[in-house]
Amino acid sequence: MTRIGIAYDRLRTEEKMLLRAARSMGCEACPIDVKTVRAGTGDGRGAAPADAVLERCVSYYRGLHYTSYLEFLGVPVINRFDVASTCGNKMFVSLLLKKRNVPTPETDFAFSSGAALEALESAGYPKVIKPVVGSWGRGVMPLRDRDAADAVIEIRTVTDSPLDRIYYLQEVVDRPPRDIRVITIDHEPVAAMYRSADGFRTNVSAGGAPQPCEHTGDLGEIASRASEAVGGGILGIDMMEDPVRGVLVHEVNNTVEFRGISEVADADIPGMMVRYAVSCVRK
Ligand SMILES: Nc1ncnc2c1ncn2[C@@H]1O[C@H](COP(=O)(O)OP(=O)(O)O)[C@@H](O)[C@H]1O
Ligand SMILES: [Mg+2]
Repeated sequence: MTRIGIAYDRLRTEEKMLLRAARSMGCEACPIDVKTVRAGTGDGRGAAPADAVLERCVSYYRGLHYTSYLEFLGVPVINRFDVASTCGNKMFVSLLLKKRNVPTPETDFAFSSGAALEALESAGYPKVIKPVVGSWGRGVMPLRDRDAADAVIEIRTVTDSPLDRIYYLQEVVDRPPRDIRVITIDHEPVAAMYRSADGFRTNVSAGGAPQPCEHTGDLGEIASRASEAVGGGILGIDMMEDPVRGVLVHEVNNTVEFRGISEVADADIPGMMVRYAVSCVRK
């Protein structure tokens, strides 16, 4: 019987759906609470916990480090270490998208508070500042003028964690009050939704309401190209609609949440995810 691991640090609706899907497909579903895992290089440690693992940690760094360990053990992980590592960082994703000619908002980067302020003053406002590592819209803020920029940069210089020194400054896309999420599996778009919200951020976790969206045509094609740019696996491709340029990909999510999209899309997303994990098992 194929053993499919679901690695988590918080058992959300999504992880329960995946465990159920694995069982209903006749697999052995192996829940792995990464917070309790003991790992090491010594002999006798590290029996493979499953034949393939869907890595679903909320914490990017926890998930990434556990992924490196699974790959050390020879266990296929979705997503692969290199994909997870890239997608957890918005700067790395923006660069790859641009390099592969996937339409994406123009973004400036700076590596000190002084350089960030200079970039803002020369490019002009408004801009969106984002933490390079983060999700659920946390810390994503429009900077409408110099006063807002000064305040945000000042806070960053006080907290001064290593990532606070990396400034990601993006053009504000003149979009309707919604964005688009497309889920891709192995470069194939399988489901899409609009997320609408009145505030600046449209994340479902920030109150964005999911609505049905077709994943065919241009949208699906751009999502596939974004998946190819970052290395594939199971991804959440986030896009905004620009009135002139069409859809722009602004983010590729590595451990994609799919509770909202499941409410509005016909596709059996957890079923497809488990089937993909089974296809990754080493023969
Ligand atoms: N450049 C932008 N122009 C307009 N709105 C944006 C822009 N970037 C992000 N947003 C809004 O903020 C939300 C969160 O930004 P996002 O880059 O997806 O960060 P997170 O990883 O935290 O979800 C987006 O879903 C979108 O609604
Ligand atoms: Mg997002």
